[in-house]
Amino acid sequence: MEHLKIVGGRPLVGSVGVSGAKNAAVAIIPAALLSRGVCVIDNLPDIEDAVSLVDALEKMGARCERTGSGALMIDASGLSEYRANFDSVRRIRASYYLIGALLGRFRQAEVALPGGCNFGSRPIDQHIKGFEALGATVGIEHGMVIARADRLRGAHIYLDMASVGATINIMMAAVLAEGRTVIENAAKEPHIVDTANFLNILGADVKGAGTDTIRVSGVERLGGGEYTIIPDQIEAGTYMIAAAITGGDITVGNVIPKHMESVTAKLRETGAFVHEGDDTLIVRGARPIHAASVKTMYYPGFPTDLQPQMVALLTLGQGASYVTETVFENRYQYVNEMKRLGCDITVDGRMAVVNGVPRLTGAHVTATDLRAGAALVVAALAAEGETFISNVKYIDRGYENMVGKLRALGADISRAATADE
Ligand code: UD1
Repeated sequence: MEHLKIVGGRPLVGSVGVSGAKNAAVAIIPAALLSRGVCVIDNLPDIEDAVSLVDALEKMGARCERTGSGALMIDASGLSEYRANFDSVRRIRASYYLIGALLGRFRQAEVALPGGCNFGSRPIDQHIKGFEALGATVGIEHGMVIARADRLRGAHIYLDMASVGATINIMMAAVLAEGRTVIENAAKEPHIVDTANFLNILGADVKGAGTDTIRVSGVERLGGGEYTIIPDQIEAGTYMIAAAITGGDITVGNVIPKHMESVTAKLRETGAFVHEGDDTLIVRGARPIHAASVKTMYYPGFPTDLQPQMVALLTLGQGASYVTETVFENRYQYVNEMKRLGCDITVDGRMAVVNGVPRLTGAHVTATDLRAGAALVVAALAAEGETFISNVKYIDRGYENMVGKLRALGADISRAATADE
């Protein structure tokens, strides 16, 4: 086991490049199973969730090869396995995409129930509802999701909530179904558009991704193609917030500023300066940090995946900030850890009241999930003295080379084996 050691108090200064989007990568890798050709995925982030999925694909018989400079070649033309019950699948949440992809390709799928970050019950009933509407029978036996269909036929599906996972999963199962599928109340996150664009490059016919109605006209076969993954909205936001909390001055490169608008607006409310370039954002922290109200929402609202990092910033705000988490029921588990750094946060259901304190002080803390880990890093960068963060494996799931990137910005951060384990 490894931990991070951070000596806080240094403003972040310089440039940081954003990697490919985790949540697009974990959808696009399984989507390649729908193809009978060779897919090349560029700008693939070097993160553990992607490694786990590639491992799963290889175990199922796909040929995967890193072709250098962040590209991944996937050739699933000879695949005949529709079962996935490996550790690599059980570990991550996004393995649910294997269900949609395998169902689309083979009309059957057996996939271990997804694991991943635990912040609420995270059901997949909307995914299942979609598969069933397309003609599949879906059951859960011995921890496996088992889906089968004699034929997949296009259907009209209205999602009860704009679920990111269900939208992408149904889209994947529908591209090789007969006829037309309409997904209403679809989620609109950038990685949904990215996955649809990837499928279209392979020959699919998906229209409307990025709006709340997606129309998929089934095709008989998907071929190969090359596609470049979009920059990671959440990674970019994490560095923006880190610049703000440290009173730093950074340029975030390889970013789509449009995807960052909710974050940019909120950072400006806290007093930070943000300048939008074509594919860069300049962020300068300011003092005092103003309190702000934050409500997480589906895209284009403020992303739930940046809520913990934003709370970290608000712990040093002047006065009380009110944060409402509307997407996940239980996404404040990190608060107890963050309190070790000296912040004043009260949680009541979906609401957190963050009373700003004049300073944070370093402590031993534990990452409870991916974004919780990122939030602890953000807070530690501003805390006086040394912070030790254990459970770094969570951070590795979704951030490429976070230590290297922060060191290049002048942070005093290092990674070491934890002695007593
Ligand atoms: C995805 C992201 C995750 C992000 C989340 C919200 C990936 C791999 N993960 O997760 O990083 O935090 O979107 O932006 O892209 N729900 C149901 N039934 C379902 C599906 C969802 O009740 O069948 C509920 C969930 O419990 C949650 C809400 O809907 O309360 C949103 O979940 P969803 O958008 O599906 O999130 P994920 O796909 O799990």
